[in-house]
Amino acid sequence: MDNIVALCKRRGFIFPSSEIYGGLNGFFDYGPLGVELKKNIRDCWWNDMVRRRDDIVGLESSIIMHPKVWEASGHVAGFTDPLVDCKESKQRYRADQLFWEPVNVETDERTPLEKLPIPGRESLDVGNGKWSTTIGYVSALESERTNEELREKALELKRKLAFKGELRWSSITARDITAADPVRDIPHIPSPATGKPGSLTPPRSFNMMFETYVGALRDDSAISYLRPETAQGMFVDFKSVVDTGRVKLPFGIAQIGKSFRNEITPRNFIFRSREFEQMEMEYFIHEDADWDKCHKEWIEWCRQWLLSIGLPESHLSLYAHPKEKLAFYSKGTVDIMFKYPFGVQELWGIAARGNYDLEQHAKFSGVPQVIFDEATKKKFTPHVIEPAVGVDRILLAVLCAGYAEEEVKDDKGNVEKRTVLRLNPRIAPVKVAVLPLLKNKPELVAVAQKLHAKLKRKYAVFYDEGGAIGRRYRRQDEIGTPWCVTIDFETIEKPGATFTLRERDSMQQKRITEADLFALLEEQVY
Ligand code: GAP
Repeated sequence: MDNIVALCKRRGFIFPSSEIYGGLNGFFDYGPLGVELKKNIRDCWWNDMVRRRDDIVGLESSIIMHPKVWEASGHVAGFTDPLVDCKESKQRYRADQLFWEPVNVETDERTPLEKLPIPGRESLDVGNGKWSTTIGYVSALESERTNEELREKALELKRKLAFKGELRWSSITARDITAADPVRDIPHIPSPATGKPGSLTPPRSFNMMFETYVGALRDDSAISYLRPETAQGMFVDFKSVVDTGRVKLPFGIAQIGKSFRNEITPRNFIFRSREFEQMEMEYFIHEDADWDKCHKEWIEWCRQWLLSIGLPESHLSLYAHPKEKLAFYSKGTVDIMFKYPFGVQELWGIAARGNYDLEQHAKFSGVPQVIFDEATKKKFTPHVIEPAVGVDRILLAVLCAGYAEEEVKDDKGNVEKRTVLRLNPRIAPVKVAVLPLLKNKPELVAVAQKLHAKLKRKYAVFYDEGGAIGRRYRRQDEIGTPWCVTIDFETIEKPGATFTLRERDSMQQKRITEADLFALLEEQVY
C-alpha cells in the first residue's frame, strides 16, 4: 500500500485534501491523472449500465434532500456506528474495531486478596485444584493480526507483573468492545492510544450523517443532511420517472454521485473515506417476480463488469450476509469482495431490499408509490434489487491489482527496475503516448504532432519528446498507458508510413499503420 500511495502522490493521481493545511482525515483530491482514471471508471459503468441497456434510465438527484427522506429511510434513527472515546488522548474508535480480552492466569493456588492485580477480582476455582486470576486486560485495533497482538500483549503483561502460571483464554477469537461489560470490563481495558486502562468510555451510537442548515435560520427546523447514499434519490423520484412514461417493469434507475459519511475511522487510503462517490442502481421488479433469480443475475452482471475493466478473477470472491444479520426487510445481500493488500474487503454490495423503501416513502409522504398491473388490474408496490458500489473503491482496486515492480533489461542489457501500472485500456487515464524519436529532427516532430492532434480528438493521449526513449517508455508504464507510438526514421523514410507500437505489459514492439492504430483503439477502448 505504501508504494501505491507514494505513486499516486508522485504521479498526480491522488493527494490528501487541503494538504498545505495539514490535510483533513478522510478527504482526498484527485489530481490530473486521478480524475481521468475516475472519469473513465464512471463512464464505463454509465455506458454499460444505462446507455447500452434498454431497461435502465439515469437520474441525478440533489445531494441535500428534504430531511423527511432520511427519517423515512431509517437513516436518522439507525445510520449509526458504535463509538468509543479515549478521554485522555481524545482519540475516537469504532467500537466494533476495538478488540479486547481479559488476561486470565491459571495457578495451583488461590491468589491472596492483597496480591490481586485487580483489587476485588478474586481468583476463581476452575476445578482440578486450579485457580484462575484476571491479572488485567489487553486491547488491539482490528487488523490481520488482532489475535496474535492480544496474545503478545497478554504475555508481556504477565511478564511485567511477574505473575507465575499458565495463560487461559476465555474466548477463542477476540471480542470487540460492544461485548464488554461497562462496569466489569471497560474500566480495565487499556486505550490503544495510551496503553493504559481507565480512559475508555462505554460505546455509544454515533450518527454518521453530516448535518447542515438550509436557509438563514439555524434552528432545528432548518437541519438537513448531506446524503449518506445516492439510493434514496431513486426511491423518492420513482413516481416522477414512472410518470414520464419511458419505463415498464422490470426497469432500473441509476445514479452516480457523491455521498458523505462521517466515518469514525476513515482508513486504508481512499477505501473508507468521509466524502466518496457511489454508483447505485435500483432495479424495480414485480412483487411476484422471482427476486432470487434476478438477484443472482445482477451479482453475475456486476462480477462480469469488474472483469471487463481489468480486475483479475483471482482477486474477487462473494460473501453472502448471514440471514440473522440482515435488516428485517432484506431478503438477501451478497457482497463482491476484493483482495486488497490490507485484506479481503467489500467492493460492491448487491441487496434484495423487498419493497421496504418505497413503502416507507409512501407512509411518510402520503403519496402512494405503486404501479398498476394490467394483468390483475391491481395496484402494487414494486420490489427492488440494488447493486451499490463506490467509485473510489473500484479505483483503489484497479490500482492495487495493476501495480507491479519488475526487473527488466534496458537497451544495453543492463537490469533495471520498472514500476508498471497494468490498467485496462478502457480505464487507463492516457490511452496512447506519442513520442518522436528525436526532438531535434523537425521531420519526425511534424509527423508526431500531426498524429497527436488527430488522436486527441477522440482519445486521451500524451505527447512527450523529452529524454531518452527508454525513459519515456518507463514514465508511461508508471501511469498505466497501454501503448506508446514512436515516430522514427522508418516512419518517414519507408513507404507505408508505419510507427513503432510498444505494448506496456509485454514491452514488445511492432510496426503499425495509422489505420491499424485507430482500429486497435476502437476495439479496446469502449
Ligand atoms: N444504498 C446502499 C448502500 O449505500 P453501502 O454498503 O453502505 O450500501 C455501497 O455502500 C458501496 O459504497 C460500498 O460497497 C462501497 O463500495 C461504497 N462505500 C460505502 N461507504 C464508503 C466509504 N466510507 N468510503 C468509500 N466507499 C464507500
